[in-house]
Amino acid sequence: MPLKITVIGTGYLGATHAAAMAELGFEVLGLDIVPEKIEMLGRGEVPLYEPGLEELLRKHVAGLPGSSGRLRFTTSWEEAGAFGDVHFVCVNTPQKHGEYACDMSYVDSAFESLAPHLTRPTLVVGKSTVPVGSAARLAKRLAELAPAGEEAELAWNPEFLREGFAVQDTLHPDRLVVGVASERAESLLREVYATPLAEGSPWVVMDYPTAELVKTAANSFLATKISFINAMAEICEAADGDVVKLAEAIGHDERIGKKFLRAGVGFGGGCLPKDLRAFMARAGELGADQALTFLREIDSINMRRRGHMVELAREAVGGGFLGKRVAVLGATFKPDSDDVRDSPALNVAGQIHLQGGQVTVYDPKGMENARRVFPTLGYAPTALDAARGADVVLHLTEWREFRELDPATLGEVATHRRILDGRNALDPELWRKAGWTYRALGRPRA
Ligand code: UDX
Repeated sequence: MPLKITVIGTGYLGATHAAAMAELGFEVLGLDIVPEKIEMLGRGEVPLYEPGLEELLRKHVAGLPGSSGRLRFTTSWEEAGAFGDVHFVCVNTPQKHGEYACDMSYVDSAFESLAPHLTRPTLVVGKSTVPVGSAARLAKRLAELAPAGEEAELAWNPEFLREGFAVQDTLHPDRLVVGVASERAESLLREVYATPLAEGSPWVVMDYPTAELVKTAANSFLATKISFINAMAEICEAADGDVVKLAEAIGHDERIGKKFLRAGVGFGGGCLPKDLRAFMARAGELGADQALTFLREIDSINMRRRGHMVELAREAVGGGFLGKRVAVLGATFKPDSDDVRDSPALNVAGQIHLQGGQVTVYDPKGMENARRVFPTLGYAPTALDAARGADVVLHLTEWREFRELDPATLGEVATHRRILDGRNALDPELWRKAGWTYRALGRPRA
């Protein structure tokens, strides 16, 4: 009998994990406490934009024509407890309001709600990003609350999926990291991940604290890489250098590598910024704050990029935003996502708006979410409409659609042909040839 799997929390991580587990051949039950989400998912609809996810879901949701029927959804903890041999906890751990620390309330309440229904030997697997030390605490709590006692065991299995590539990253992970306390837990997880393991995904087994730390360490390293290249962009601007060439050249060194060296308005999203801060807060609690003080600098370099972009835009429109029209291309924190959480693009748009500029935003997928966060900004249905009458155009999220824009066509509708490339993703020559003043972060003015 194949294992029966539950997935607790059906946000971006949980919905993807649930669909992927069904794709791997398991019977899956997804649980969420928000009934509207469960209804949507039950109809095969995804409450967020993630390439390939809706298709995968429709392939497996029970009751849909032609589906495998292996995936169902519920709001009942009792049903989840009775169903699962393995329970994945995928709820979110946002930043606490007004603090750096991570808000564990969703994780804690998921454990409190599930545990009383665990009456037979089971494995609960934490996937959420949590402060180190949480797993040990939760393992104890689980054994206390579950009728199965110590037979309700815990494992920690951090998730490294990227938005925009979530389905691929879940089905073909570049590594599988598991923090376990027994051989039984390890062998159950090997069964769950048998397919990617057979494809050659590396399997790294460790204790709870190390597994928790792997996730925050990986995100801190990625953030450090981005802020490093953005710091180099600041130096390049001061010294008339070109950060794009610099990144290309240092990237040829295999020890450094080319990836995550794209200078621009910096990182945002639901993970990197809050994970850095939660990591610093946790290090402080552990008396090891000195080890991570450098992350404060990484965070400030990153936030400085947004302010710098606003200054370049101000300069481009002649020193003040009053009465000026600013077109903003991009609202999401990265392309191929509709996520605007802590988005540098939306932050820059908002700052300019609050300083009196008339901002018009266009984004291929993020309009609805952007409108919800920033209802007072102007929104246009296409890039061309956003650029109509603009005194300056800001390119802030590197959607493919923006790289394929025709500078001549855009030039016909803009009042002034001035473009600031906040992602170093457009071709400067192309824009300059069409009569635009092209400027990018960390590059010479030409
Ligand atoms: C990240 C991690 O990559 C993933 O492993 C983890 O599970 C969750 O957090 P994600 O938030 O989807 O994933 O985004 P990512 O692709 O890492 O990009 C983060 C931000 O950095 C984006 O705003 C992106 O635009 C920015 N970025 C990325 C740069 O500014 N320069 C780069 O070179 C790369």
